[in-house]
Amino acid sequence: MIDINEIKENQINDSHISSQEIEVNVPENEPVRQQYFMDRCHEIIEDYIIKNGKAPGYYVATFGCQMNAHDSEKLIGILERIGYTEAASEAEADFVIYNTCTVRENANQKLYGHLGALKKKKESSKDMLIGICGCMMQQPEIVQHIKESYRFVDLVFGTFNFYKLAELLYRRLSGEESQVVEVLAAPENNVESLPEKRKFAFKSGVNIMYGCNNFCTYCIVPYVRGRERSRTPEDVLSEVKCLAEQGYVEIMLLGQNVNSYGVNFLGESDIIAANPDYGFPELLDDVCKIDGIKRVRFMTSHPKDLSDKLLDVIVKNPKIARHIHLPVQAGSTRVLREMNRRYTKDDYIALVDRIRDKLPDVSLTTDIMVGFPGETEEDIQDTIDVIRYARYDQAFTFIYSVRTGTPAAKMEQLPEDLVNERFGRVLEVVREVSGEVSARFEGQTKEVLVETVNDHMDGYVTGRMDNNLLVHFPGESSLIGKFVNVNLKEAKGFYYIGEMV
Ligand code: 5AD
Ligand code: SF4
Repeated sequence: MIDINEIKENQINDSHISSQEIEVNVPENEPVRQQYFMDRCHEIIEDYIIKNGKAPGYYVATFGCQMNAHDSEKLIGILERIGYTEAASEAEADFVIYNTCTVRENANQKLYGHLGALKKKKESSKDMLIGICGCMMQQPEIVQHIKESYRFVDLVFGTFNFYKLAELLYRRLSGEESQVVEVLAAPENNVESLPEKRKFAFKSGVNIMYGCNNFCTYCIVPYVRGRERSRTPEDVLSEVKCLAEQGYVEIMLLGQNVNSYGVNFLGESDIIAANPDYGFPELLDDVCKIDGIKRVRFMTSHPKDLSDKLLDVIVKNPKIARHIHLPVQAGSTRVLREMNRRYTKDDYIALVDRIRDKLPDVSLTTDIMVGFPGETEEDIQDTIDVIRYARYDQAFTFIYSVRTGTPAAKMEQLPEDLVNERFGRVLEVVREVSGEVSARFEGQTKEVLVETVNDHMDGYVTGRMDNNLLVHFPGESSLIGKFVNVNLKEAKGFYYIGEMV
């Protein structure tokens, strides 16, 4: 464990760096400033290694969406650069970080449960460090609650400054503060060129934009992730090229609403005027031109602005996965209006037709919400209609959760038992449809990218098809990261059992 008092003494006695020096030498500009703090933390960790004979271990627990998962890769990149190594488990870690999600209330409850357990651990190993970051920390009342009731948490930071992990950690390790809390209300800076430790060596997410401007009335994302900001095409393409050079073969372009890519740019690039001739379809097309990249995915598309131009780019590019995640949320036009989704049931159905017309083999997946304020039995029937019409391969179904500060929180809420009963019925239809639909490839041979060794079946590996479905088949770990052809012998619901051909 890191003994913070010892570290402070070391700094004074060994004078790696004095507080005066810190003030004089700290660079103001990013990313040099963060590199400086990574070096300072690294020195502290080196002392720890000399004393303990081993590096301290980290454990990063990630909740929520792909965006958070990708942010965690950046946190881990910084931790490893500082000198931490991955702990075998949370229980063995010297530094535990929770990268939180707040899209639904149960995510919040889960965090408090975890913190209760960590408190006990920290009582027996007082120098253990605990950090909490991510979307939940963007809510002032939650930060206040942590400050008051969870004094043992060492670091609290948000979605706009997670790149400052080393700086905040340094303040905790070297300073007087027993709890470092820094949450920004809006992005100040966008620092991209810091270390990242990607989970897989062959596929990676790449942010193309941050935030959301849609303000669906139930959703907290625009408040905790800020206004929509796109990265420039040059930035995105150079990151993808760099990944291709390192051997990455699959890229997932990430944004809350990729279809509005290029409308607003980030920070210093504010001066770049939106180019009406260069939006998401053009970016996607350019990503496909990069040698070495063999499969391209994107997430998430808002149905209100999925263009024909985008569909045409998908049609002409075999590298683009035949999978579109198209969150419908609800089937009823009235509910959709209340949700501020800006499409009707008919618009959505027409969009499904347009997609299936151009991409007959496409897998559609969706998000569905049950229990939005004012929802009636008729509205639920509309949702069921759309599920049956769209024939989703997979539908993530959620119970509406009140998010303080959103417009829907002020609407009259439905009774819980009614919502639970409707949820059960919707889930049944989802299961029935996706069971039938995802079995449609049985007997076919598909190209899959092998991702992992299968933990449950000895001698098997798991690969992903371009439609996002998984197949388990006999194979060895040497196949990981490779594309192979697999015959889909047996459909098992959300996955297949297959055989390499
Ligand atoms: N309650 C329940 N589900 C929500 N989602 C977003 N906000 C809420 C909420 N308040 C769901 C939506 C979205 C997915 C990521 O999470 O379906 O598409
Ligand atoms: Fe939330 Fe709507 Fe933005 Fe998606 S599009 S993140 S549901 S506000």
